[in-house]
Amino acid sequence: METANQSTPPIIQVENLSKTYGNGKAVDDLSFQVRQGEIFGFLGPNGAGKTTTLSILEGLRQADGGRVSILGMDIASKTQAIKQCIGVQLQSTSLLPDLTVFEQVQLFARLYGFQPSAAEIMALLEKVGLTGKAKAFPDKLSGGQQQRLALALALVNQPEIIFLDEPTTGLDPQSRRALWEIIRGLRDQGKTIVLTTHYMEEAETLCDRVGIIDHGRLVALDTPGALINGLAGVASITTTADVPLSDVQALPTITHAQRDGTHLLLQTADVVAALRSILDLAERYRANLNDLHIKQPNLEDVFLNLTGRTIRS
Ligand SMILES: Nc1ncnc2c1ncn2[C@@H]1O[C@H](COP(=O)(O)OP(=O)(O)O)[C@@H](O)[C@H]1O
Ligand SMILES: [Mg+2]
Repeated sequence: METANQSTPPIIQVENLSKTYGNGKAVDDLSFQVRQGEIFGFLGPNGAGKTTTLSILEGLRQADGGRVSILGMDIASKTQAIKQCIGVQLQSTSLLPDLTVFEQVQLFARLYGFQPSAAEIMALLEKVGLTGKAKAFPDKLSGGQQQRLALALALVNQPEIIFLDEPTTGLDPQSRRALWEIIRGLRDQGKTIVLTTHYMEEAETLCDRVGIIDHGRLVALDTPGALINGLAGVASITTTADVPLSDVQALPTITHAQRDGTHLLLQTADVVAALRSILDLAERYRANLNDLHIKQPNLEDVFLNLTGRTIRS
């Protein structure tokens, strides 16, 4: 399987993109490129500016500053031409309650000026695993099926670039994995996919490259592996030890400490010294230690290391 590499030309170029709403900067001087044939993900917490960024690229909102070029065309002057080449799945797609799955696809295709045959519509439904639901109305679809229909609607104009805003939010793990498979299939056919997510695991396993976004700013951009390798020397420790957070934060061996439910999440550059000082602390407070482990760093740790917060908090 081919994945995008350094030599693949950029299909999207974004320079110094900014957008301010009444309540402040939603997108703050973003610059990045998306390469043809990659799954590019924006990972960030709620309110980070993911939807705003995506909707500017989709031509649905206007930036205050910066430049966006898609397939070599400027978004500001070639909005209509660009819309013909992209597929868009919004964060919440409203499906029409009175149309069957088949009819929704047919209607969307007509809106783009296509007159697809029944066989072509069924072929599209096949791509998203919905042939068995062609005659069903939207309220008879599961959450995962609704998201797959929304994806099919984003594909009616055979776009080169597909934008997906939180495609798997709220889905159970099995439905999420089914969507990942479909998205990978699209990438393997040469499509470029730009998606947003606040799921660390989704960014890590699905995306070829990940841009980590926080408060409208891009804080890191690389392959998931490179982002995690960038934490070389940083180890994560989790423990249920019931000791005061402020005491843990005061330990010189701990670079980050925060509470996550019943657990403490800790980062350190020196595992042995950190474990020793945590054990000392637990002893001093006579705290139970039913769980204490060192874990492999993941993108959550990358985010924590860059921003001092977890994605969920
Ligand atoms: N239409 C809007 N009007 C005013 N503020 C908005 C609007 N859309 C988003 N925002 C604000 O901009 C920031 C980024 O929002 P958004 O792009 O939706 O983030 P995300 O998709 O990462 O959750 C948030 O602070 C949000 O409240
Ligand atoms: Mg959003």
